[in-house]
Amino acid sequence: DAAEKEGYDHFMLKEIHEQPKGIYETLNRRLDDNGMIKLDGISLTKEELDRFNKVYIVACGTAYHAGLVGKFVIEKLAKIPVEIDVASEFRYRDPFVDDKTLFIAISQSGETLDTLAALREAKNKGARILSIVNVVGSSVARESDDVFYTWAGPEIAVASTKAYTTQLVCLYLIALYMGYTKGVVEDATYHKYIEELKAVPDKLREVLAQEEQIRNIAKELYKREQVFFIGRGLDSGVSYEGSLKLKEISYINSFAIAAGELKHGTIALIEQDTLVIALATQDRLFEKMLSNIQEVKARGAYVIGLAKENNREIEKQSNRVIYIPECMDEITPLLSVVPLQILAYDIAKLRGCDIDKPKNLAKSVTVE
Ligand code: G6P
Repeated sequence: DAAEKEGYDHFMLKEIHEQPKGIYETLNRRLDDNGMIKLDGISLTKEELDRFNKVYIVACGTAYHAGLVGKFVIEKLAKIPVEIDVASEFRYRDPFVDDKTLFIAISQSGETLDTLAALREAKNKGARILSIVNVVGSSVARESDDVFYTWAGPEIAVASTKAYTTQLVCLYLIALYMGYTKGVVEDATYHKYIEELKAVPDKLREVLAQEEQIRNIAKELYKREQVFFIGRGLDSGVSYEGSLKLKEISYINSFAIAAGELKHGTIALIEQDTLVIALATQDRLFEKMLSNIQEVKARGAYVIGLAKENNREIEKQSNRVIYIPECMDEITPLLSVVPLQILAYDIAKLRGCDIDKPKNLAKSVTVE
């Protein structure tokens, strides 16, 4: 066990640190020397792509949160409507799926029962099944028409980290491939994305170098019993994942909500010293986010801001700030989730929790 952890106290921490490599591998397996995406046997011709009128993404847990980012980028780049659902809901509500649907199942283990059942349901209805899976030869992989593997390597900790970021890489590649092949993404845009993605492993090493600073924030926060995560656009999807990470390993009651939705109810819970983690990485939405932060500050919230390093203005509104390197808005989830993983890890450790095996949770849920 100790040898497998390679000097880290927990598998989760080891796996957090393996993300630059996992992202690099996942990209590298799919890109040729000119930065063009290789499908290696996956059949997605222009004719096939033109025939699909809808994409359906289905998954559970962290993989579902990756899907939220996938919906955003596939709609943006491939210009096709994307529906997304958790597998346990999808399978019981007669979803509108037919032979013009591209169904994308996302699963680290490839053995989650609900995801597998949803896949079978979609297949019966005639959908094409493309899955994003980490475990080679798993049930989801075997039952899919095509598989886009994540190259995360084995993930042991129950709380998923490197599977999520490598799933995101696959979704970016699928979205780019679809858009480019359909002719709706131009050369320059395509290559800009590829360059940005290739730069992620190094930028992630910069994020990991801030571990000490994040640990100091964890020391201030670990006795809290309630946390709110807020964000807009892609940041709202990452908020759900940050919140899940924290609650599953530290047992702190954490809740994520799209920041613009706060005023429709949740803001009633914000009072003096309530902890709010505010993700503000989207340049396009930065001003909007600052006003959401002001709303909670005005009610006394203690705010941890998360922003790109040039958006220093956030310091005026936050008690503490964590920065990520500059990058295009669309790929921030690959960088912004990592400080949240580290924060969850450090808080759980300070609370003395069993980080790699949290109570009541399983790595792979193979029952209903
Ligand atoms: C369990 C794990 C989660 C995971 C989810 C989906 O609940 O604890 O970390 O995200 O299953 O697992 P999968 O293997 O399908 O990605």
